[in-house]
Amino acid sequence: MALLEIKTAGDPVLKKVCAPVTKIDKRLRRLLDDMAETMYASDGVGIAAPQVGESIRVCVVDVDTKSHNERYDLINPVITYREGSVVDNEGCLSCPDLFGDVERAAKIRVEYTSRFNKKKTLEAEGLLARCIQHELDHLDGKLFIDVAKNITKGRPNKKTED
Ligand code: CO
Repeated sequence: MALLEIKTAGDPVLKKVCAPVTKIDKRLRRLLDDMAETMYASDGVGIAAPQVGESIRVCVVDVDTKSHNERYDLINPVITYREGSVVDNEGCLSCPDLFGDVERAAKIRVEYTSRFNKKKTLEAEGLLARCIQHELDHLDGKLFIDVAKNITKGRPNKKTED
């Protein structure tokens, strides 16, 4: 596996609508593994292919920051159901040190293809739902700073820890 260079805001690849994946092969699985390694090395909970310069509809998420045990590799993901709405603070590996509040659906259902070419459905809520919505925005060339409110440099002070 290898660490990949993370593209930051201002790089045109982050503004492009990504193309669907048509071939799931060893090369793609290696990209997914390299993306995961890059995400873990940067303490991220999600990473999308355009963030490493690949304009294809692929992302990796893992909200288990302690043991990295909830990894999902999402190929051609599509959100087919949304429910509710929650505002919470987000950051992004492509926008170093910026944080802001973003409104997202509280619960989602996402359909995707697995790294072994199986059709899958995932229901998510909480941080996982937020993370998937953030990564899917990347696949459409959108950055969270384009929609976030109360953007701060540095993580804002947490009011309560629960
Ligand atoms: Co991001």
